[in-house]
Amino acid sequence: MDTKQKMDLYGANTYKRFNVTIKSGKGAVAVDENGKEYIDLGSGIAVNPFGYSDEVTANAVYAQMSELTNTSNLYYTSPQADLAEWLCTHTGMKKAFFSNSGAEANECAIKTARKYSSDKYGQGEKRSTIITLNNSFHGRTLATLKATGQPEMHVSFGPFPEGFQYVNANDTPAMLEALSSGSVCAVMMEMIQGEGGVLPLEKDFVMQTVREAAARDILVIADEVQAGNGRCGTLYAYEAYGIQPDIFTTAKGLGGGLPIGATLLGEKLADTLTPGSHGSTFGGNPICCAAALSVVHRLDEALLSEVREKGEYIRSELIGAPGVENVTGMGLFIGVKTTRDAQACVEAMIDKGVLALTAHGRIRFLPPLNIPMDLLKKAIAIAKEVFAEIYAVQKS
Ligand SMILES: Cc1ncc(COP(=O)(O)O)c(C=O)c1O
Repeated sequence: MDTKQKMDLYGANTYKRFNVTIKSGKGAVAVDENGKEYIDLGSGIAVNPFGYSDEVTANAVYAQMSELTNTSNLYYTSPQADLAEWLCTHTGMKKAFFSNSGAEANECAIKTARKYSSDKYGQGEKRSTIITLNNSFHGRTLATLKATGQPEMHVSFGPFPEGFQYVNANDTPAMLEALSSGSVCAVMMEMIQGEGGVLPLEKDFVMQTVREAAARDILVIADEVQAGNGRCGTLYAYEAYGIQPDIFTTAKGLGGGLPIGATLLGEKLADTLTPGSHGSTFGGNPICCAAALSVVHRLDEALLSEVREKGEYIRSELIGAPGVENVTGMGLFIGVKTTRDAQACVEAMIDKGVLALTAHGRIRFLPPLNIPMDLLKKAIAIAKEVFAEIYAVQKS
């Protein structure tokens, strides 16, 4: 049996995989088992900020492996302390809790928000509702799935934890009304709805939501799992909205390919979590923290401005191109509505040696932050060719 046959036979049937088996990769280039090369505009779904087999991360991981692989969170370790320090000092947050994934980072955010409210306002008041947005995505655990504002994803998995309420993105009157109910402890939003189609929230909606929430001591949680860690050309996407959330969550790109999630807590929440109130066996383990440190230390202004420039390049190439209806996103987090089916476009790109993603019927590009310009140009030229080809086929 080859890899595909084996996986199809023994792997749980949870993914609609493309017919490609990736064997290795270097930088922005993935190589399949037959030696065919692909320019990767997906980065393992926003996970590999410096591409495949990045040497800096690999060396940091090897070094940490040989010094200390794992111990428990009953002891202090320096990679975890250094990462907590870096994240707090670069974002104005006060505390970091480490887990292993985006969903877990959001679980921690939900628990912390409810505990803050319960500690301060009492359990009897049931001030426990979390408002999220329709078309959002916050994870696959029962609580984060319920937080996800896509009812079709809830089918078959109930009963769910209670206390989630949904509002349409950019519907400011509906949000202000929801915030005024007296039962809300937090509002959780992705600044750019990633899985929902790469749709940035409107600035005015975000600012009015944050202002109203602050006035009512309702916590603002920014889900930065996909948009964060330099992806949008700022360290975290909320910066572009001029807001400071009470909590933000991050994962994906933070670990440079290793699993890590982090929940960052602001001033109000610095003392909310207490010993025993939350925890994780693997969260913040030295190896993942060493990998994350090797990533964050490179997220400097030079790299961020490179991300913005490359994003602008992609936008300028695609806006108005044949077969392109619109382009959304920020930095190197880009969504494209194509005239023809997005899945068919991605399959055609794979044939031509480019890996891309879809999100809610749109093409999604999430290239490595340091993708070399020549590879980016080549990949975007192929994407344009595919969109135009399909456009021509459809018009004829
Ligand atoms: C915005 C957002 N939040 C949470 C998650 C869940 O992250 P994970 O798959 O690491 O649990 C994702 C994953 O795509 C995401 O895009």
